Amino acid sequence: MNRELLRQLLLYYQDLGIQTLYRRGPAQTTPSPPQAAATRPETPPLSDPVPAQPYEAGLFESTPSSPSHESLADILADIGDCTRCRLHQGRTKIVFGAGNEKSPLVFVGEGPGAEEDAQGLPFVGRAGQLLTQMIEGTARKEGIPLKREQVYICNVVKCRPPDNRTPLPDEMEICGQFLFRQLAAIRPKAICALGATAARALLDRKEGVTKLRGNWYRWRGIPVMVTYHPSYLLRPYNQNAKREAWDDLKKVLHYVYD
Ligand code: URA
Ligand code: SF4
Repeated sequence: MNRELLRQLLLYYQDLGIQTLYRRGPAQTTPSPPQAAATRPETPPLSDPVPAQPYEAGLFESTPSSPSHESLADILADIGDCTRCRLHQGRTKIVFGAGNEKSPLVFVGEGPGAEEDAQGLPFVGRAGQLLTQMIEGTARKEGIPLKREQVYICNVVKCRPPDNRTPLPDEMEICGQFLFRQLAAIRPKAICALGATAARALLDRKEGVTKLRGNWYRWRGIPVMVTYHPSYLLRPYNQNAKREAWDDLKKVLHYVYD
């Protein structure tokens, strides 16, 4: 790749919020110094031009993120048989994402569970069934004909964390580059962040889901709605949260499909 092309690519990644590039190869938590020096953008990181603040969707237009030069297939090919972080050690299948590449709505979860790891598909276990119900049930009630296949669904990390633990910050950073590139390739009208991990990956905010949910934020100009993760809603003592999740979803669906 010539220098100018490389420079453009680094600026593009920088614009997506990717600070460090991890090359394919043996797993390492931090890139070795010469490699880091060669791939890290020279200029200071661009800050998000608009801080992630709650706002009412529709009050002003979101500024689109820079147009992506790559397709989901390109990103999948780049992931390859990825060993960039330690999560590769326990995985059966990489769970890249599924659904409509041109979807105006993308759901982002945390990471694959056992069933997802076995099938290589996101949200196919119990939480996944609930997510399907949430999407299709809410849409039907609101008079919006929508099937799960029509949206795009993916996760912050693509390999199953051991014992379904929460992904660690370095794993989120390393694998997050793929999520950011997926979102830039799809450029949906809105993103729905399911749970704290997705919210943390997309928004630079410290509050938990209970605080963040129900409001609009932005990732690279794209409106983001935070709501509860379906796994959380499956626990019997969290039944009140279900109604709130349905409310959040209603807002998202009307914003995207009205
Ligand atoms: N939980 C997630 O966060 N993602 C999945 O794909 C399945 C369960
Ligand atoms: Fe690669 Fe992501 Fe899997 Fe880590 S979680 S090995 S970065 S695909």
